[in-house]
Amino acid sequence: MNQTAFENISTLITVSSEEGRKSGKEMNEIGCISDAAILFDEKIRWIGSTEELRDKIKSGELAPEKVISQKGKTIMPGFVDSHTHIVFAGSRANEYARRLQGVSYQQIAAEGGGILSTMRAVRSASIEELAEIGLKYARSAMRYGTTTIEIKSGYGLSFESEMNQLRAIQLMKKEIPMTIVSTFLGAHDIPPEYKENREEYIDILCNEMIPYVAENNLADFCDIFTDTGYYTVEETEKILNTAKEVGMKVKIHADELTPVAAAECAARLNAVSADHLLCISEEGMKQMAEKAVIGTLLPGTAYNLRLPYAPARTMIENNMAIALATDCNPGSCLSENMQMMISLACTNMRMTVEEAISASTINGAAALALEQKGQIAVDKDADMIILSTDEYANIAYHFGINHAENVWIKGQKV
Ligand code: NIG
Ligand code: FE
Repeated sequence: MNQTAFENISTLITVSSEEGRKSGKEMNEIGCISDAAILFDEKIRWIGSTEELRDKIKSGELAPEKVISQKGKTIMPGFVDSHTHIVFAGSRANEYARRLQGVSYQQIAAEGGGILSTMRAVRSASIEELAEIGLKYARSAMRYGTTTIEIKSGYGLSFESEMNQLRAIQLMKKEIPMTIVSTFLGAHDIPPEYKENREEYIDILCNEMIPYVAENNLADFCDIFTDTGYYTVEETEKILNTAKEVGMKVKIHADELTPVAAAECAARLNAVSADHLLCISEEGMKQMAEKAVIGTLLPGTAYNLRLPYAPARTMIENNMAIALATDCNPGSCLSENMQMMISLACTNMRMTVEEAISASTINGAAALALEQKGQIAVDKDADMIILSTDEYANIAYHFGINHAENVWIKGQKV
């Protein structure tokens, strides 16, 4: 592949780290370089100053096919959105309207709405229809700078329908240049057929679905919704241990609505990440930090459900590595815009802009166990966002608009 160089980059944010993640105070170090230059093909090959680039071109040491000036711009790693549910069907705008009238998310779920409402729509959609909807959100996310996205099943809640969702995710991979990571979330809710007999559904998850998903390489991760009214910590251990036995990595939707010590459970299971964490305990923070479990925060969900935000500051003080993601889903947060999540994280969770940038890039990659992503460093994938400003604080400060002028994935402008 031919090489391209960018020169006169007003602000280059590398977010690089050999460890592949940033914890606690390190999250403020985003490796900012002024008047920088880079050379890349599908991977980043060289990083230096504009002057050095010109010298090396003159001496023949570097030979880019094209040199593009990025004066007035910020270049940063593409966003890694490590938690989404964009393969779904139907609309829940009516539920949003009811929540505005004061009905709670849990009340709507108890009436058979919520996740089960999306389940009914997903069960009657084809694989192609599901992929089409997922692609619509993924393409939009890409325009806002997302270059890697995780997508979960969890709205089928039957063998056939869960596999349809996972196959829709596989179809999407062929259609877009983004890197897509697939997660099996069959334990998102108890399907209505098994309401009175949840053990039987858990047996199907453990004995049929998880082995099939692993054998057919349909997902990289197994996830579960551990909360009051959903799955217990005990059930979580059983289901995720089964997934680990067949070689899957695990994550948990943890302590979102009520404190159930799901963060501690994630630490015990060596989960790659525990997500949401609005009700995390300080003990949970300590254990997650010690076991290097990424804490994935989803401020769009707290915003949309009007819940108190996750205690990001205390988590960072406890030396946790925090990731930010959208949680894009039809029920609790319908947004695919990572720039918006950065703004919410800064304004409402009191994260610094630098912390929010680390959380949206390198720590998102760590939450997906992807070493190649989330940093601009030699030999990493050339996934980059060109922001139309040389002051990166604008991502949070000048909110609600799109700062991504263009987006590059594996060295190609998309
Ligand atoms: O991550 N917390 C659980 N699941 C989703 C919401 C699912 C829905 O309401 O459709 C979430 O917020
Ligand atoms: Fe979620």
